[in-house]
Amino acid sequence: MKLVQDLSEMTALAASWRGQGLKIALVPTMGWFHAGHLALMRQVRQSADRVVVSLFVNPIQFGPGEDLAAYPRDLQRDMDLAAGEDIDVLYAPSAPDMYPAGFQTTIRVAELGLGLCGASRPGHFDGVCTVVMKLFHQTQPHLAVFGEKDFQQLAVIRRMVRDLDLSIDIVAHPIVRETNGLAMSSRNSYLQEDEKERALCLYRAIIFAQEKVKNAIQPLSAAELCAELEEHIHQIPGFVVDYVEIVDADSLKRCETVTVNSRLILAVKVNERVRLIDNARLYEL
Ligand code: PAF
Repeated sequence: MKLVQDLSEMTALAASWRGQGLKIALVPTMGWFHAGHLALMRQVRQSADRVVVSLFVNPIQFGPGEDLAAYPRDLQRDMDLAAGEDIDVLYAPSAPDMYPAGFQTTIRVAELGLGLCGASRPGHFDGVCTVVMKLFHQTQPHLAVFGEKDFQQLAVIRRMVRDLDLSIDIVAHPIVRETNGLAMSSRNSYLQEDEKERALCLYRAIIFAQEKVKNAIQPLSAAELCAELEEHIHQIPGFVVDYVEIVDADSLKRCETVTVNSRLILAVKVNERVRLIDNARLYEL
């Protein structure tokens, strides 16, 4: 594995791979790797000749008062973890390289990025799309993988790729969970032990909803089910619901009733410090 920190070195490498007809996969990350990131790396390894993992804590996707400064960073730790995987390049560009003085361009996916996390984090998906588009240009991937934990992000990126005619295959990786069900996230490192235990309420809400759907004899009202789940989460001390929604998995529009294409999608704030998200299909495949 080679560490590349220079943008022009990365673009030259990608161009030379392209010239040799090699298939490139990109795993975009903000670092502080956990088993979920490593699973993404393994997934694309199977279908690419060269795997690039980007590591960049992207300042423009954090809003004022969010956790940009606190976001966990340790390049050596991430290099050690990535070295255990079969990747070719760990690409960790600098902020001035990514956003040189005078930078003023934004990529916006208008509708899909507005609701859910986009409503609580205005401009977040503009920042995500802009950096992902830059990473695409710099690393020239044939495919890129995104975790389903950020389900809205995946939908937004897919839309951007379609709308801008990019020939990049967007691959989704299922959520990787701890053995107790907690969805893996770099932000879990902000949680105290007791908060981690209580954070299981997201996964429990998912299981509860899936069971309810399985046992229902007629289509369930999405609003009623969401209200019931919110009520459960409200009872957990220190936990405030940002949203609990059942949406169509493609359009992300609210469902009236739960259907095979419905996705339960949740966000909670823990002790006003940590924002956790989770989601799942409601019908079994
Ligand atoms: O999912 C993330 O870690 C980030 O949003 C991404 C896609 C790397 C863009 O900064």
